[in-house]
Amino acid sequence: MKITKICCIGAGYVGGPTMAVIAQKCPDIQVRVVDLNEQRIADWNDPNPENIPIYEPGLSEIVAEARGRNLFFSTDVDKAIDEAQMIFISVNTPTKTYGKGKGMAADLKYIELCARQIARVAKQNKIVVEKSTLPVRTAEAIKSILDNTGNGVQFQILSNPEFLAEGTAVTDLLNPDRILIGGDTTPEGEEAIEALLNVYANWVSKDRILTTNVWSSELSKLTANAFLAQRISSINAMSELCEKTGADVNEVAKAIGMDSRIGPKFLKASVGFGGSCFQKDILNLVYIAKSYGLSEVADYWEQVIVMNDHQKRRFSNKIVQTLYNTVADKKIAFLGWAFKKDTNDTRESAAIYVADDLINEQAKISVYDPKVSRTKMLADLNYLETRSEKDNNEFLNVFESAYQACNGAHAVAVLTEWDEFTTYDWQKIYDSMHKPAFVFDGRNILNAKELESIGFVYNGIGS
Ligand code: NAD
Ligand code: UGA
Repeated sequence: MKITKICCIGAGYVGGPTMAVIAQKCPDIQVRVVDLNEQRIADWNDPNPENIPIYEPGLSEIVAEARGRNLFFSTDVDKAIDEAQMIFISVNTPTKTYGKGKGMAADLKYIELCARQIARVAKQNKIVVEKSTLPVRTAEAIKSILDNTGNGVQFQILSNPEFLAEGTAVTDLLNPDRILIGGDTTPEGEEAIEALLNVYANWVSKDRILTTNVWSSELSKLTANAFLAQRISSINAMSELCEKTGADVNEVAKAIGMDSRIGPKFLKASVGFGGSCFQKDILNLVYIAKSYGLSEVADYWEQVIVMNDHQKRRFSNKIVQTLYNTVADKKIAFLGWAFKKDTNDTRESAAIYVADDLINEQAKISVYDPKVSRTKMLADLNYLETRSEKDNNEFLNVFESAYQACNGAHAVAVLTEWDEFTTYDWQKIYDSMHKPAFVFDGRNILNAKELESIGFVYNGIGS
C-alpha cells in the first residue's frame, strides 16, 4: 500500500518535529498534525515560522518550507482521522498522578481517548502507529478498543518509537541511528510494516530500518532510555567519589570512554538529568517489572532515579554549605533553566528542584535563560506545590541578560549547558558580585582555571 495521507494526533515535541520532517522529505504525502490544544495549533500556524511553539535548531526553516504545501496543523481531529490511511499517536504519556500506580505507571488515558476516537471515526481500514513511548503490551489494549468499538473496519497496529533528543531533534530525525518498526507477523501486519518502512525509506537507508515484533519494539524504547539514563547516574555516582578522593570525573570519563566497549558519549557528569522522559520511562519500567513480580529487576532500575534525585539534592546542599550554611536573603544567580541546551523545554529540569531547595532556605533566585519565560519558570515551581504561588513569585526574579541576573549575586549556579555561558566576560560578572564570589558549575562547562585566576571560588561537579 502506498501511503499518501498521514495524520498525527499530538502536536508536541515529538509530533510537531517528526511530522515536519516527514512532510519535508515526502512531498507526495499529505501530513495533518492535530491537537486538542487550540493555542498550540494556533502557534504552529503562526504566519512567522519563528513563533512556532517549540524551539529546535533548524525546525522553523523546515516548517516554513512544508507548511501549507503538504504539512497542515489543525484542531479538527475527526477530519484528519477520517482522511488518513496511517495515523500516528503522539500524545503525552505522563506518570500517573492518581490511583493505582500513582507516581510510577504511565498514564494511558490520552492514548485510550485516541484509540476510541479513531475507532468511532474510521470508515476505512487504517494503520495505527504508536509513536508515543508506551508500556510493553499497550498495542494489545489499543487493538482491543479498536476492534470492539469500531465500525467493522480493519486496523493494523505498529509500534514505531521515537528516539530523537530535544535540542537536536531535527538532525536526529534527518539522520537517525535507526528507525524501529514493530508489527504483527501476519501478512497484513507485514504489509503495514512495509508501508511505514517505505515512508522512512524516502530519506533513511534501509539498513538502518529495523523491524521486530510489536513487544520488542515497545520494550526497546523503554530499554534505550533506561540504558541512557543509567550511564548518567553511573558517572554522577562516580562524581561524588571523585570529589572525596581527588580524582577528576572529566578525566575518569575520558579514560573509560576511550574503551570502545564503553564509548565516549553520555558520560557527562551533571547536576542530574532532566527532561520529560528519562524519569517517567524508568518509573514505568520499574512499575512493569514489579507488576510481573520481578522485584530485583525493579530495584535495579529504580536506583537510577534514586541516584539522580541524590545528585540534584547534593548540588543544592553544596551551595548552602559552601555559602557558610546560610543562603537566606542571598541572591543566587541561575544560568539556565531548561533541562538541556538548545531547547525551551523545562520538564523535570534539575533547575526546578535546585531552586525549590534553595527557596526553602529563603534564597532569592535570579535566573537568566535564553529561551525560557518567567511565566514558565513560575509554573514549574508552582507545580511542585511546596509553597504558595505568591511566595514563589517573590523569591523568583528573571532577567533579560546573564549580567543583570548575576549583578549583586553571592553565587552563580550553572544549571544548563547553553554555549553562550562560556563566552561571557567573567571579569565583568565577578566585579558585579559580592565577595567571595562563588561559581557552582552544574555542567562543568566553564574554565575553572580562568575563573579562579579572576578570583572566583569555583566548584564543579566531580572534581
Ligand atoms: P507533548 O506534551 O509535548 O505533546 C503531546 C500533545 O498531545 C499535547 O499537545 C496534547 O495537547 C496532545 N494531546 C493529548 N491528548 C490528545 C488527544 N486525545 N487528541 C489530540 N491531542 C491530544 O509530549 P511530547 O514530548 O511530544 O511526547 C509525546 C510522546 O512521545 C510521549 O509518550 C513521550 O514519552 C514520547 N517521546 C518524547 C520525546 C521528547 O523528546 N519529548 C522523545 C521521544 C519520545
Ligand atoms: C532522551 C534520549 O536521549 C532520546 O533518545 C529519547 O528519544 C528521549 O529522551 C525521549 O524518549 O524523550 P532528551 O531527554 O530530549 O532525550 O535529551 P538527552 O540529551 O537525552 O538529555 C537528557 C538529560 O540528561 C538532560 O538533562 C541532559 O543535560 C542530561 N545529560 C545528558 C547529562 O547530564 N549527561 C550526559 O552525558 C547526557
